[in-house]
Amino acid sequence: MSWLRFLVFLAPCLSHAKDYDPPRYNLSLDLPPEQRWQPVLRHYNYTEVKEAMHYVLDITLPKWVHAIIRPLAEVELAFLIREPYAGEIKGIARTLGSNVGDILALNLCYEATAFCTSIIAQDDKGNVYHGRNLDYNFPDILRKLTMDLDFIQNGKVAYTGTTFLGYVGLWTGQRPYRFTVSGDARVQDEGEWWKNAISAFFKRSSPVSWLVRDALNDDNNFEAAALRLSKTPIIAETYYIMGGTQPKEGLVITRNRDGPADLWPLDPLNGAWFRVETNYDHWTTPPPFDDRRSPAIEALNATGQANINTDSLYKVLSVKPVMNLNTIYTTVMSAATPEKYSTRIRNEV
Ligand SMILES: *[C@@H]1O[C@H](CO)[C@@H](O)[C@H](O)[C@H]1NC(C)=O
Ligand SMILES: *[C@@H]1O[C@H](CO)[C@@H](O)[C@H](O)[C@H]1NC(C)=O
Ligand SMILES: *[C@@H]1O[C@H](CO)[C@@H](O)[C@H](O)[C@H]1NC(C)=O
Repeated sequence: MSWLRFLVFLAPCLSHAKDYDPPRYNLSLDLPPEQRWQPVLRHYNYTEVKEAMHYVLDITLPKWVHAIIRPLAEVELAFLIREPYAGEIKGIARTLGSNVGDILALNLCYEATAFCTSIIAQDDKGNVYHGRNLDYNFPDILRKLTMDLDFIQNGKVAYTGTTFLGYVGLWTGQRPYRFTVSGDARVQDEGEWWKNAISAFFKRSSPVSWLVRDALNDDNNFEAAALRLSKTPIIAETYYIMGGTQPKEGLVITRNRDGPADLWPLDPLNGAWFRVETNYDHWTTPPPFDDRRSPAIEALNATGQANINTDSLYKVLSVKPVMNLNTIYTTVMSAATPEKYSTRIRNEV
């Protein structure tokens, strides 16, 4: 790839380091999966998008994974993965003029270790708030590919999510008046990560972020979503963090591949009015070189239950090192007031 062109692509975000709103687009669930992404992709320069995608692929994906996925996807995509993901990935590849195996591989890339912080909190009136930072490598590229999407069905917003262009799963989302979800990676041995993930993928376990989208798409209440997110086999260990619309509806699910390792609900009657999850099991101490948990707890303590809301939660998520050089975006949301769903691209560290 051409480095000069790549630098030109990055230049606009290097020249003014300010936080900003990502674009927000509609994605129509009433269109066939192959056609849904076209109106979104049209806002971008395909050459630049493909260069960014190949950069991410080259750095993240082991060669042997690429070598397996690419040819299989070309002939067997419908056999390999379910709808709507197969159709959406095919449609994205066709629109961009990319290899379908590359787009599938790219979708698996973002399943790998993302460092994140998610917080759920309940105020003293019983309102539940949910916020998250998404941290990842190459933040300069991913900031440019981040977007909020409203998934439209029958003229209404069925659910909202935040994602990267070309990525059909969701790490952050809201089903209005029902629940909110975010996912944080559960840190594991990196050497084994791809081996385990690919083997689970071929056994038809769900990519972590596709299960989030399934819940947002299909589940009509907090309990149904909590059950699905707890028990469905997935390709990598993770944390699912959920907020609901009723007091006490807040939950951190620690996931093994095959099922739940631990469920950690809000417990406001006993003083636990918030839960903070980064990338370590809540019953262990985070390593000193990556403790984003204690500063977040300190900031929540200082805020106080009476003062927690989407604005103050955003401020908590802006405290260093909860926010850091790899933070791509911050989303705050509250399922009972879905219009408050708000994402900011973080550029000001
Ligand atoms: C898309 O980006 C490429 C590479 O930066 C550039 O050469 C081309 O002119 C752009 N196309 C459009 C339509 O802007
Ligand atoms: C997105 O869809 C909603 C619901 O149909 C509609 O009200 C809104 O105008 C659409 N927005 C855009 C940018 O098309
Ligand atoms: C936060 O407040 C709780 C309850 O008062 C206290 O137990 C905890 O040590 C505080 N944590 C920090 C990091 O300030």
